[in-house]
Amino acid sequence: MDHLDHDSGSDAVDTDTASPRRGSGSALVEVGPVSRFLRDGERVVTKTGGHEILTLACDGEIFAVGNRCTHRPWWLDTGRILPATCEIECALHLARFSLRTGTDAGEPARGPIPTYPVEVVDGVVFVRLPAP
Ligand code: FES
Repeated sequence: MDHLDHDSGSDAVDTDTASPRRGSGSALVEVGPVSRFLRDGERVVTKTGGHEILTLACDGEIFAVGNRCTHRPWWLDTGRILPATCEIECALHLARFSLRTGTDAGEPARGPIPTYPVEVVDGVVFVRLPAP
């Protein structure tokens, strides 16, 4: 299956050309203005340094997780958000993952997804990535 033509309709920010801010052994990656996350379900995909990060809003909070399902290499930004539990459900076979912890809700997922700390500085959303 070819996933290279992925176009989910999510706002995509390709920051491979942008340089993350580094400090304390981690990198701060700019996602965009906080105004892009005012409504539940708003989502942005950011690609940087080999990471593909899905940043989205749920229940008044902003979360950042890895954008790949652990069942098969499918993009989670094509899935739906379950607002009652702040989970994302993979569009392909309906695996669910907590946006807060990355924990999966069982099969068909094959483990959790990564989560990343989100910081808002002067109205701009940043995601903190671990040091490589
Ligand atoms: S690819 Fe996500 S549940 Fe199968």
